[in-house]
Amino acid sequence: MMGAEIALCFARSGYETMLNDISLEFAERGKQKIAGVMDKNIKKGRATEDEKQAALDRVHPTGALEDLADCDLIIEAVLEVWDVKKDVHQTLDKLCKSSTIIASNTSSMSISKLASCVGPDRKGQFIGTHFNSPASVMKLVEVIPGLLTEDETAEEVTKLLEEIGKVPVRVKDVVGFGLNRIFHCMYGEACRLVEEGVCSVEDVDKICRYGLGHPMGIFALLDITGHDLNLEVDEILFEAYGDRFRPSPQLHRLVDSGRLGRKTGAGFYDYEEK
Ligand SMILES: NC(=O)c1ccc[n+]([C@@H]2O[C@H](COP(=O)([O-])OP(=O)(O)OC[C@H]3O[C@@H](n4cnc5c(N)ncnc54)[C@H](O)[C@@H]3O)[C@@H](O)[C@H]2O)c1
Repeated sequence: MMGAEIALCFARSGYETMLNDISLEFAERGKQKIAGVMDKNIKKGRATEDEKQAALDRVHPTGALEDLADCDLIIEAVLEVWDVKKDVHQTLDKLCKSSTIIASNTSSMSISKLASCVGPDRKGQFIGTHFNSPASVMKLVEVIPGLLTEDETAEEVTKLLEEIGKVPVRVKDVVGFGLNRIFHCMYGEACRLVEEGVCSVEDVDKICRYGLGHPMGIFALLDITGHDLNLEVDEILFEAYGDRFRPSPQLHRLVDSGRLGRKTGAGFYDYEEK
């Protein structure tokens, strides 16, 4: 979901970009996803065929981490599983040239803890870059220095993100960073409004759109992000901050019933064709 879109952000801005996955076949699939995103942009009049081809020419899929050894910046977006991330970062640290900056797109892990996977000489060049989905569209990137990250690393990464059209925001290395704390707090309250019978799901979404100026309602958005992931992040925030992030019983019911959102055809709303 994230890796290919992040690669596209750099490739369309003129950077030669390696796209790695566990096999060449998987990495090629990421490149196909990039082509699909560019096709949609062309249909909407936001890109041309030439721009699509130029971006694709700069994306180099590979199934071998060794091929990243000469990269100046690596953005890791592998599964949100500690052992997988640890293994990837330990390997990258050994393979990469000494000047390589390694960034993680983790949503929930401590950047300072992830930095423990690289050697003492790399810790100053290890940082968090939290892109939002879809990464090729959403401009916000939270830039999260760990305790040992050097200022120059944060500055260099911030400058680069600005150059590719993103809006970087510097955030401390705390659980949920900035965006997820605001987002989960807000939808916790939205769920309470529905549970208490104050207003309906549809009306909460109207409040978001016509009162807060959001492009879509919060329940419609939650159906896109997926309730399994929403609940997972809720639980991490609940553990870190206590009651103010207690997961809503509604989310538990949706997950228990397999109504995970758009991807399963139903969540707060129904998407199956009648
Ligand atoms: N999905 C989101 O909305 C979102 C938003 C912000 C951040 N994130 C974070 O981004 C990261 C990726 O999330 P995603 O939703 O794209 O996950 P995903 O499951 O869609 O993609 C993960 C990819 O990592 C690959 N992978 C697994 N092990 C690997 C290895 N050892 N080497 C190379 N590639 C490997 C998988 O094959 C897969 O293609 C996670 O850390 C997640 O927390 C996700």
